[in-house]
This record gives sequence, C-alpha cells and structure tokens, in this order.
Amino acid sequence: MSNVTTREGRPDLPMQGVPQPGREQVLNLPRVHISQHPVMVHKMTALRNKHTPPPQFYRLVKEIGSLLAYEATAQLDLVEKVIETPLESMTGYKLAGGIGITPILRAGLGLAEGFREVLHDVQIWHLGLRRDEHTLQAMEYYNRMPHNVDFQICYVVDPMLATGGSAIDTVNILKEKGVRRISYACIIAAPYGLLKLRQAHPDIDIYIAALDERLNDYGFIVPGLGDAGDRQFGTF
Ligand code: PRP
Repeated sequence: MSNVTTREGRPDLPMQGVPQPGREQVLNLPRVHISQHPVMVHKMTALRNKHTPPPQFYRLVKEIGSLLAYEATAQLDLVEKVIETPLESMTGYKLAGGIGITPILRAGLGLAEGFREVLHDVQIWHLGLRRDEHTLQAMEYYNRMPHNVDFQICYVVDPMLATGGSAIDTVNILKEKGVRRISYACIIAAPYGLLKLRQAHPDIDIYIAALDERLNDYGFIVPGLGDAGDRQFGTF
C-alpha cells in the first residue's frame, strides 16, 4: 500500500499516500446507522479521553456495547409466547430463532459483554484476528464457531473499524459457515474502512457509535481513542 518499507520489505507507514474518503462521502451510505444518542455521545467523550484508566475504559466499552445492542436489535423478529401474569394469561412475544455474537478478539470482548447484558440468551462465537501493524492484514489465530449456526442473526462486534480488513474477513468467515443474517457493530469507524466494508458486504447492517475523520499513516483512526485492546486490558 505504501512505498515506504522496513528492512524486512514490509510497508512501515501502510496508509501513507493512500487516498481516503472524507466523512461526508460515507455519511449517507445505505444500511449504515450512526448513533446520535446524547448518552452515547457523552460516554464516547469519556472513552476517548487518554486519562481514562483501563477499568473505567472497559466499563465504558461494555456500556456502549449495550447501547449499540439496543439500537442494533430494533429490527429483530419476534414469535408469540403465551404467559401467565399474576392476574391472567396473555400472549406476549420473545425473540425468534437464537442470536450469535462474534467478538473479534481480543478488543471485541468488552462489546460482546455489553450485548450480552441486553440480550442475555446468546451464544458467543469467538474469532481471533490480529492485524499485522506493518501490512495491516488481518490474520486468523482462533475460531470457536459452533457446528449449528442456524440462528436468526449474528452480530460481529469490534470497537475499531480501521482499514476494514478484520471486519470483511470475519463476515466472509461467517458467510462461508452458512450464517444467514449478519450485522456489524463498532464503536469508532474510519471512513476508509466503512466504505470498504460497505462495498465488500452490501447486505449487512452496520451500527457505529461515532464516525471519525481518517486513518493516520500508521493505520490508526484519528482522533480515535488509541488501541482499544490495550486500553481495555491494561497492556501498555
Ligand atoms: C484492532 C481492532 C480491530 C482491528 C481493526 O485489533 O480491534 O480488530 O485492529 O483494524 P482493521 O479495520 O484495519 O482490520 P488489533 O489487531 O489491534 O488486535 P487486538 O484486538 O488484539 O488489540
């Protein structure tokens, strides 16, 4: 991607000179939902603050995950369920068909917990992808997808959508496995990665807490929040 390379021949500044779309070019992409909720905006500011320590950062990721889950589940299907209230029986509803959550390890773990707190009865399908910091290519190192994926929906969750490589690869893996309905949720997206994901998978809904300006030469989202994995787990 870049003409600057390390001694090993890998690009050192992988986004240097790479053209990137602006925010205005991706604001109205189809099936992209960017949160406008004031509580989300409030929590995002605390999350971005470099003085927010890991325990508080992790709690915020979970809370933002719960807010994203609330927004991302608005279109889910329901089936009837007859129950007894303390006074009489009635026909209520329950979520149909099972829900899977795929956190992209490791930074997606906090978001998955936030989704789980809202939805309770979910399966967590862990998938480990790590982004090579030189090439920005995502590499799979762990996969605990179940045999049966015949669920209503699977949510792929990862705090950061940077170049889009991890998200695109994950959705590819889920589709190859036979998952029929997929949504993607992240905390911060860069326009570059958002456009790539939208183009690669036009059939999924994308939920975002905040849309940032761009990727810097190293491929980090700016203004961003730094490394979401390190800040959740204290590995500086
Ligand atoms: C980060 C982030 C995403 C990925 C985004 O993970 O959590 O998974 O990079 O980049 P992309 O859109 O360019 O693929 P990282 O590789 O730092 O791993 P970690 O979760 O273990 O910290």
